[in-house]
Amino acid sequence: MALLLRPIVLFPLLFIFFPDFVFSGDADALLALKSALDAHDRLPWRRDTSSELCTRWPGVKQCSGDGRVLKLVLEFLDLNGILAAGLLSPLDQIRVLSFKSNSLSGDIPDLSVLPNLKSVYLNENRFSGRIPASISSIHRLKTVVLAGNQLSGHIPPAITTLPRLYSLQLQNNRLIGTIPPLNQSTLRVLNLTGNNLSGEIPITRALSQFNSSSFLNNPKLCGAQIGRPCSENGKLIFLGGVAGLYSLEDLLKASAETLGRGTAGSTYKAVMDTGFIVTVKRLREPAAGPSTAEEFRRRMEEVGRLRHPNLVPLRAYFQAKEERLLVYDYFPNGSLFSLIHGNGSHPTGAGKPLHWTSCLKIAEDVATGLLYLHQAGEVHRNLKSSNVLLGPDFESCLTDFCLLPAPECRLPRPSSFTPPSDIYSFGILLLELLTGKTPVHDLVDHHIADIPSWVRAAREDEKEASASADDPSASSASVGTQTTAESKLAALLAISTACLAAAAETRPTATEVVRMIREARAEGVASVSSNSSGRVVEDNSGHSPGRWSDAVQSLPREYGSEHLSFAERD
Ligand SMILES: *[C@@H]1O[C@H](CO)[C@@H](O)[C@H](O)[C@H]1NC(C)=O
Ligand SMILES: *[C@@H]1O[C@H](CO)[C@@H](O)[C@H](O)[C@H]1NC(C)=O
Ligand SMILES: *[C@@H]1O[C@H](CO)[C@@H](O)[C@H](O)[C@H]1NC(C)=O
Ligand SMILES: *[C@@H]1O[C@H](CO)[C@@H](O)[C@H](O)[C@H]1NC(C)=O
Ligand SMILES: *[C@@H]1O[C@H](CO)[C@@H](O)[C@H](O)[C@H]1NC(C)=O
Ligand SMILES: *[C@@H]1O[C@H](CO)[C@@H](O)[C@H](O)[C@H]1NC(C)=O
Ligand SMILES: *[C@@H]1O[C@H](CO)[C@@H](O)[C@H](O)[C@H]1NC(C)=O
Repeated sequence: MALLLRPIVLFPLLFIFFPDFVFSGDADALLALKSALDAHDRLPWRRDTSSELCTRWPGVKQCSGDGRVLKLVLEFLDLNGILAAGLLSPLDQIRVLSFKSNSLSGDIPDLSVLPNLKSVYLNENRFSGRIPASISSIHRLKTVVLAGNQLSGHIPPAITTLPRLYSLQLQNNRLIGTIPPLNQSTLRVLNLTGNNLSGEIPITRALSQFNSSSFLNNPKLCGAQIGRPCSENGKLIFLGGVAGLYSLEDLLKASAETLGRGTAGSTYKAVMDTGFIVTVKRLREPAAGPSTAEEFRRRMEEVGRLRHPNLVPLRAYFQAKEERLLVYDYFPNGSLFSLIHGNGSHPTGAGKPLHWTSCLKIAEDVATGLLYLHQAGEVHRNLKSSNVLLGPDFESCLTDFCLLPAPECRLPRPSSFTPPSDIYSFGILLLELLTGKTPVHDLVDHHIADIPSWVRAAREDEKEASASADDPSASSASVGTQTTAESKLAALLAISTACLAAAAETRPTATEVVRMIREARAEGVASVSSNSSGRVVEDNSGHSPGRWSDAVQSLPREYGSEHLSFAERD
């Protein structure tokens, strides 16, 4: 009898003396949660301390002014049992909820009972079943961490509608099906590794920012991010771990302008509806090079991994029965060929030799790109001025590398493509820079006996031409400058002559070529500085190539305002 009466007697008393107890926000809900999940009594929550739950109950990290729980963090407590939605629903002010690293089991509760939820951590438990689709109705949700459970079924597609999703971590579960096309611009953290997801990683801007470490260990998943193309045909395959912002359809619909036709195939500038511009190379049919689709695919994966500031990156490729397309970044400033010879109108006409500063800068860029290829075990195979593109800072970037046999070198005709055959082509390229003449091979035939005097003669013409031009700085060139020019020219001639050695094994390696060019450049900076300003300026060109703007005085006519005259000036 007494036992029955006690609550009736006590309750009004407490109500009078401890009004906080009765109105203490979420105490009842938390005690119910404890009694359902905390069999080992790890949480020292007691009814008689509930008036201080916001300050004294471990795990209650933050409350509102009126005593409602905002942040509940119950980690590593060996909690077990089933986290029913009914246990959570009274705690409807919660923003942050963590049950990380416990032993909770059963289904993930319907979290939409917590409409204010921003972050939820239920990782490293024993939850099973599906991810409730109702999660997508929690509009403030930013962080969803359900990793390390036994969740199965699909990732609910409606998750793509969560407007603020920042972090989605579902790794190490048993999820199946395809990845929904997540494209929230807020998304920054994604981990889907260690599931059983399949199909193509959707090509969206948001998903393209993640690399393989977000997707690995899903045996049936494919996509650029994990370097596993989804099929041999029909699709545009992106390389280098980055999915593109365009599809094959976009590319085929793009307006195309022919940039050039070469041995390897034709090259187009493709402007897509979105305004995005790429360079597309359409390989000549029957395509030389790798014969089977699988060989071609492997080759493109290898070439697509080559990345260097002096290489034009291969971004994507496509192959079908009748067609092989390669997609590169577009370089609006054209090629070295067009720089020397002008673009389009009279492409085989004699151009203008470049100032030695430009020759050295270009030579260093080209040789550095070549060195990277050779160190990667690759051979360019088709090095020539039309395959050197000018970047935004007028750095020289090699393109068309490693594609196919294109036996254009007449002297000596290489039986196969080797690093020394690239070096030979480099020697030819250097002569083209120095003389402005092409096709150089024929000219080399005639002048092989005395390349230096031929080159000097070609440059003499130019000097006369520019001296007669209306440019006072050209005629007032100092004797010191002439000497510098002569020593540069001599250095460049020595390098090209070495590269053109008939016996392949006596040609310098790319490493040696780069070193020789850097030495020649370094001397130039030191001597010019000491003579023109009266003090020696420390040379820093050995490691950081000067910018094109240092040498811009030699830009030829098609870029030419008057002060960018070709004449040598210092
Ligand atoms: C992955 O999913 C397939 C069905 O798509 C199933 O047959 C297979 O057993 C699953 N593998 C694992 C490890 O769960
Ligand atoms: C994804 O969202 C971006 C804007 O954040 C938008 O430009 C793009 O078209 C959307 N779709 C895909 C498939 O990337
Ligand atoms: C993936 O990206 C992360 C940064 O988001 C980086 O730390 C990691 O090295 C990258 N992993 C690979 C394999 O590229
Ligand atoms: C994803 O989770 C796996 C396994 O825990 C981990 O190895 C990987 O680094 C994580 N990747 C990212 C991007 O967080
Ligand atoms: C040649 O170059 C000039 C100036 O750079 C440019 O305006 C013109 O469109 C180019 N012509 C061709 C055929 O590329
Ligand atoms: C080179 O390209 C950049 C854009 O990448 C452009 O701003 C610049 O004017 C171009 N220079 C010439 C000489 O065409
Ligand atoms: C620099 O000037 C000195 C005289 O001051 C001269 O002997 C030397 O040849 C000059 N060097 C060059 C590269 O012009």
